[in-house]
Amino acid sequence: MATKAKKQKAAQREDREDAETTVSECHDVSALEIEEDESCFQDIDLLQNHGINVADIKKLKSVGICTVKGVLMCTKKKLCNVKGLSEVKVEKIKEACQKLESGGFLTALQFSDKRKMVFRLSTGSKELDKLLGGGMESMSITEAFGEFRTGKTQLSHTLCVTCQMPGSNGYSGGKAIFIDTENTFRPDRLRDIADRFSLDQGAVLDNVLYARAYTSEHQFELLDLVAGKCHEEAGIYKLLVVDSIMALFRVDFSGRGELSERQQKLAQMLSRLQKISEEYNLAVFVTNQMTADPGATMSFQVDPKKPIGGNIMAHASTTRISLRKGRGEVRIAKIYDSPDLPESEATFAITLGGVDDAKE
Ligand SMILES: Nc1ncnc2c1ncn2[C@@H]1O[C@H](COP(=O)(O)OP(=O)(O)O)[C@@H](O)[C@H]1O
Ligand SMILES: [Mg+2]
Repeated sequence: MATKAKKQKAAQREDREDAETTVSECHDVSALEIEEDESCFQDIDLLQNHGINVADIKKLKSVGICTVKGVLMCTKKKLCNVKGLSEVKVEKIKEACQKLESGGFLTALQFSDKRKMVFRLSTGSKELDKLLGGGMESMSITEAFGEFRTGKTQLSHTLCVTCQMPGSNGYSGGKAIFIDTENTFRPDRLRDIADRFSLDQGAVLDNVLYARAYTSEHQFELLDLVAGKCHEEAGIYKLLVVDSIMALFRVDFSGRGELSERQQKLAQMLSRLQKISEEYNLAVFVTNQMTADPGATMSFQVDPKKPIGGNIMAHASTTRISLRKGRGEVRIAKIYDSPDLPESEATFAITLGGVDDAKE
């Protein structure tokens, strides 16, 4: 009886801590070679060598959990919700995963070694890259917010092309995934940007996966497909764009009454984005809108507008940049929040060939 009560209590605790809902069916993932390559990720097929049967591994994959890290990123409660997985099985799976991937402490030196996998994507503008400490970082979420016409969508397009080119910093190039919530994705812009870098237009477009999201739920479900794709083509995808992250949430949840539900759903989605970025070593770039801050008129703020999404958004983005309009094609980017970058500014330009340095 005592253990049962304990278990119940533990489950309740998980209930509160775990904001995740069960993930929906993921893409049909074809049979893969078993990878032991640390530089990308460890496939859950590896669990076969640790006494987990193929059927159970298949069950995990059916809900978009395809890597050892992916298992460790889920609470036991969430795993128990997977159809056909008992608590005992979940224990065994967790144990095996912990053996394969250190689920505990590392020294800072070991962690520093792991961080060497992090790469940086060029934005198309050297000045903007410099502002970002060498480009847009993988394994984290970068958010750009600003009023309309400040270049958020142009930057999204440019990154889809620049991510395909090998960088001078040892970066090897890869594919991009674009989730469009505002119907502003234009393949023709990718053609223009490809021309600027003398790349084959067809090849460039072929390397960008596109999905239009119509509801915030749909946007969330697409992330399971993203995980499936990244798993299918291991180490190939380098960039995930969500343009814009909040637009559908704004429509689907209205008024104060639905605010807490909206923020809860938003938190789940951002948590999933963060996990995907770490699991598959992706740079995640999200754009965000701004709104007037009703409290600001009283406080004499210079710029009374602020990004939407509140604290949840603020905490989820690793690096936040604010964009504003300059003269003509010139735009100004400012680091708004970052764990390791100073608060400084850079100017860039929006050109036919995408984001570029501004001419003096
Ligand atoms: N082909 C192009 N050549 C040059 N500038 C362009 C081109 N297409 C769009 N722009 C410029 O990009 C700006 C819009 O940027 P966009 O990224 O769509 O803004 P938002 O921040 O609203 O997403 C406009 O000022 C527009 O003039
Ligand atoms: Mg836009």
